[in-house]
Amino acid sequence: MADDTLIAVKPEIAVKARINAARHAAMTQAAATDPDRFWAEEAKRIAWIKPPTRIKNTDFSGTVSIKWFEDGVLNASVSCLDRHLATRGDQVAILWEGDDPGSDLKVTYRELHERVCKLSNALRRLGVKKGDRVCIYMPMIVEAAVAMLACARVGAVHSVVFGGFSPDSLASRIQDSECIVLITADEGRRGGRKVPLKANADEALRSCPSIRHVIVARNTGTAVAMQDGRDHWWDAMTAGEPATAEPEPMGAEDPLFILYTSGSTGKPKGVLHTTGGYMVWGSFTHDNVFDYREGEIYWCTADVGWVTGHTYIVYGPLANGATTLMFEGVPSWPDNGRFWQVVAKHKVNIFYTAPTAIRALMRDGDGPVKKHDRSSLRILGSVGEPINPEAWLWYYRVVGDERCPVVDTWWQTETGGILISPLPGATAQKPGSATLPLPGVKPALVDNDGKLLDGTAEGNLVLLDSWPGQMRTVYGDHERFVQTYFSTFKGMYFTGDGARRDADGYYWITGRVDDVINVAGHRMGTAEVESALVAHASVAEAAVVGMPHDIKGQGIYAYVTLVAGVEPTEALRKELVAWVRKEIGPIASPDAIQWAPGLPKTRSGKIMRRILRKIAANETSGLGDTSTLADPAVVQELIDNRVK
Ligand code: PRX
Repeated sequence: MADDTLIAVKPEIAVKARINAARHAAMTQAAATDPDRFWAEEAKRIAWIKPPTRIKNTDFSGTVSIKWFEDGVLNASVSCLDRHLATRGDQVAILWEGDDPGSDLKVTYRELHERVCKLSNALRRLGVKKGDRVCIYMPMIVEAAVAMLACARVGAVHSVVFGGFSPDSLASRIQDSECIVLITADEGRRGGRKVPLKANADEALRSCPSIRHVIVARNTGTAVAMQDGRDHWWDAMTAGEPATAEPEPMGAEDPLFILYTSGSTGKPKGVLHTTGGYMVWGSFTHDNVFDYREGEIYWCTADVGWVTGHTYIVYGPLANGATTLMFEGVPSWPDNGRFWQVVAKHKVNIFYTAPTAIRALMRDGDGPVKKHDRSSLRILGSVGEPINPEAWLWYYRVVGDERCPVVDTWWQTETGGILISPLPGATAQKPGSATLPLPGVKPALVDNDGKLLDGTAEGNLVLLDSWPGQMRTVYGDHERFVQTYFSTFKGMYFTGDGARRDADGYYWITGRVDDVINVAGHRMGTAEVESALVAHASVAEAAVVGMPHDIKGQGIYAYVTLVAGVEPTEALRKELVAWVRKEIGPIASPDAIQWAPGLPKTRSGKIMRRILRKIAANETSGLGDTSTLADPAVVQELIDNRVK
């Protein structure tokens, strides 16, 4: 670890930054001493129909209740659109860069407002009302953001499902929240390939009786099947609609969206975010962490299917009146200089991406970066997984020419926005550390018994108090919310992450301590991959763990026990990989499959994953206590046949 590398804030950055060290300290103090006053003031950054008078009302004990700004009334789309019309109606709101380097689009705030209103009217015409759930399964095109904002405008709760998910994954998410409308596109484009979204949707909808209507955006123009009465072309639906639509008045605690994410057990859970607190948090963090300045071009490379896309492509930047760049493509196509070519083309000032992309590009050397002009860049950000110091330094030195601060932002789908991060003008950086909490955020480390650890320590990362962007519940299952996040350590929100705190109070996130793995920044429950594997007729049992992976951070390592009589062959291995891709999506493809005649189990039948993780990581010298195993010989067999 590079604890000793300290990169001080450059004076020229501190001077101009909206938050310098002194202001950071003052804000932290103010948020701690009088949260109501501090957040009442910050709430003014968004537009309210009726401003809140009650600010914080949260309780992490018992049945857990989290309310912020509860008597406020607002509509999220107004903060993102209407209130900008007078001052920046002709400014570009969404700068879209297509997969094909020749294609781009500029959509101004006025145009975006108009497109959102037209779709809002169409949704209302289809009978969509406040509180109804609408699923969005879209490629990275402007219509994805329009769809989200139109849902917000009519008070419908959107549930965006990543376009890389399989029909089955889409179906289970639609079923869980009983969506009544699905918004999709004919096809998506990624890295020169087509993604058959409408065809996937049709397959999913065979088991989704709640869906009454499907709105299909024309993207690639390919012919797709349209079901009479159910399926409608976006263009035809919106063409005749008026260009204005009344925003639905929403209580601050009315739901804004559901986003499914993986946990350590069971099926993905619907993380529910509400309107007021989420919007304040998105605006507050986008503004301060990226030190955003009026007129800047801001680019977050995430997909809108993930929370990063929600908060830092759509809601945060648009609430702040930014120009947000939306990119349909991938970093490696048509060549591995694509990110930097786009930076040069659009003179991007703030660039926010994932460590997995940085590591993949670093492997190709400095050449593809240096070929393109990056002088517009001012701030670099990282998100999604721990960034190793080597990749951090490459990002800082090569991409940012040692000029741009790197903000390593730690947060989760559940937190709604960034919680731990440097502020460019206030925090000295250490490569590999997410550094310090934002004002109002109270992280702590506890041991496995829940005892708070002081000073320099390593343990489980918890949050001791609420912040406005926190998730409010698991959709339809509040008990699961309480169980998942508040039962491990009573009275605290448990993140599922482990972390270390150094002598300067800086946090170093070490990764998940539960059965969630982080593959190329995508969060995956090992249980989900296991259930996909055992659904295959040849598989008797499966255990999935993460393994270290140079580019992806973690890879998926599966131990598979075959049904008696089935021969382990290379063809079957390939078939199982393809099977998991089909069941969940390409992001869940196992990187390694080891045939396991038996799995290490305790006498009570519990699989000892600790041992499986060590074998997958080739750390077989320190396997720890194996005396409780039912059959210790199994371990040696697995070590001998480890997939290299
Ligand atoms: O393990 C942490 C890791 O990603 C998890 C959250 O994943 P997800 O809900 O998909 O949200 C990703 C985008 C916010 C966390 O529990 N993680 C996220 N950011 C970082 C990180 N780990 C280390 N450093 C980070 N900056």
